[in-house]
Order: sequence, then C-alpha cells, then structure tokens
Amino acid sequence: MLDIAVIAATSPQGRSGANVSRWFLGQAGRRADLRLDVIDLNRIPLPPFHPGRPPSETDPATRELAARIGAADGFVVITPEYNHAYPAVLKLAVDAVRREWAAKPAGFVSYGGQSGGLRAVEQLRLVFAELHVVSLRDTVSFHRVEGRFDEDGEPLDPAGVNGAAKVLLDQLIWWGTALREAREARPYSL
Ligand SMILES: Cc1cc2nc3c(=O)[nH]c(=O)nc-3n(C[C@H](O)[C@H](O)[C@H](O)COP(=O)(O)O)c2cc1C
Repeated sequence: MLDIAVIAATSPQGRSGANVSRWFLGQAGRRADLRLDVIDLNRIPLPPFHPGRPPSETDPATRELAARIGAADGFVVITPEYNHAYPAVLKLAVDAVRREWAAKPAGFVSYGGQSGGLRAVEQLRLVFAELHVVSLRDTVSFHRVEGRFDEDGEPLDPAGVNGAAKVLLDQLIWWGTALREAREARPYSL
C-alpha cells in the first residue's frame, strides 16, 4: 500500500478542473494498492506570500502541508495552464515545503486549451528536479478540456484517458515502491 498525495490546483470556480479532478480521483480510488490524501490547494489554508522570501517554516499552514507531503510516498499534481505556466497557488505550496518532497516520484495530470497544460508540466519538472523529486515520463493531459467531458462530467473518451491514467499510476507505484524501499535502506541526504 502506497500513500499518495493528490495535489489539485484546479480553480474552485471552473467546471473543467472539477471534472478532471473527480475523474482522476475515481481512477486512482479504484486501485487497492493506493491510499490517497487529496490536497486541494484552493480549499486548504496556505502560508502567506511574502515577496522575496520563502514561506515561514513555523507557519501553521506550512507545518500542516509539510506533514502531509512528508507522509506521502509519491504525488500526483493536477494542474491547469495559464499563460504557459502552472498557477501561483501551486508554486506557493511547492516552495513552502523542502525536504519532505525529496526522493519521491511525482506524476502529472494537466488540462488547458490548445496545449493541454503540457507547458505547465514541463515547468513543474524543472522545479521538482530542484527538490529531488523524480518526475514520471508519462502524463495525462486534456487538450481543449471544456469539450472533453459530457454534461454529467464523464470523459467523452473514457478508454483513452483511463488507459493513460493506468500507465501513470503503474509508473507511480513502481517508483514509489522502489524509492520507499531505498529511503528505508539508506536515508536520503540533502
Ligand atoms: C487568462 C488565461 C490564460 C490561459 N492560458 C492558457 C495557456 O497558456 N495554455 C492553455 O493550454 N490554456 C490556457 N488557458 C485555458 C485554461 O487552461 C482553461 O480555461 C482551464 O480550464 C482553466 O482551468 P481552471 O478552470 O481550473 O482554472 C488560459 C485561460 C485563461 C483564462
């Protein structure tokens, strides 16, 4: 059993992001080998933003987030793309935590307009490399997301996206298990 934090940066107003999150949590929730902790960044207290310095480690919101990231064996980030980047709330959360990210895998579920959030994901790979996170090759991406779900919020191409989610989750379990065993055998030093 792996503990996976699903970190959602979806807009609380947008319907598309809610559809993506609900669908992915349905897919991941079916896996008997995963225990999910859903961290909805627009619904939890986050550390206050101070220009020019990282969030305080003693802030209660930072401590809570660090505890949840630290308890996870791996991560899935669900993100939209705005102006070729991922949302600021996600950068704030990523920067609030440091050593708790290290030596764990992260997969990405993205959505957007033409690019399907892929540029946001490529930026996240650079940021997570700095935090010693292993980013998974395969992603799930929803291009022109507003037309990818029916009025009940179900994907119009379930075979395609469910298959992509399976690939991502299989890779996450492989890396999550391997890295957990490695951390237990030899603590990772930063
Ligand atoms: C100001 C703005 C900028 C956007 N920039 C991009 C972009 O660079 N690439 C892309 O694929 N989609 C872009 N989009 C489309 C959004 O990713 C899409 O509307 C998505 O559903 C927004 O997610 P949300 O509803 O969870 O906030 C943009 C939308 C807005 C309103």
